[in-house]
Amino acid sequence: MADRHSTVLCPGSYDPVTNGHLDIITRSSEVFERVVVCVVNNPMRKDKTLFTAAERKELIEAATAHLGNVEARTFSNLLVEFAREIGAGAIVKGLRAISDFEYEFEMAQLNRKLDPGIESIYMIASPQYSFLSSTGVKEMATFGGDVSDLVPGPVAAAMASRLGER
Ligand code: PNS
Repeated sequence: MADRHSTVLCPGSYDPVTNGHLDIITRSSEVFERVVVCVVNNPMRKDKTLFTAAERKELIEAATAHLGNVEARTFSNLLVEFAREIGAGAIVKGLRAISDFEYEFEMAQLNRKLDPGIESIYMIASPQYSFLSSTGVKEMATFGGDVSDLVPGPVAAAMASRLGER
């Protein structure tokens, strides 16, 4: 049991990773021995992502390079299956506001039904990030807003470059 809970997953779309995600990843890395940040690669998605799963993973790696016990991976299967594959005992996610609760409640219950052995743990977002989302950041950047204090440096640069191509 102790071994399984020493590895946790921080799953998400991360399109792209924001300072709010980094808050949760960093705090998780202080509580757990090994944190695997896993980026969903979902070819079924109707709305196209700004970055490919491989690009999103690379941006997470750049933003977490200073955290020795954090690694990034992509996954294309059920989250609980991926957790079992890498020996993770729990899923850690951030909660910003009540509006997140309904979706996360459903996800946690579905994951528990799929595998009661994988625990879901929720960490309350730090107040300065309680409004921050990848969607909001993308919208701001698309219309020329400054996102430099909302996302890690490499992400701001990658967004400017990708949106400039459009
Ligand atoms: O950042 P997001 O979009 O809230 O992340 C959602 C994510 C990746 C955690 C969720 O879509 C997911 O776990 N996808 C993999 C498929 C799965 O296991 N779904 C939950 C049970 S049906």
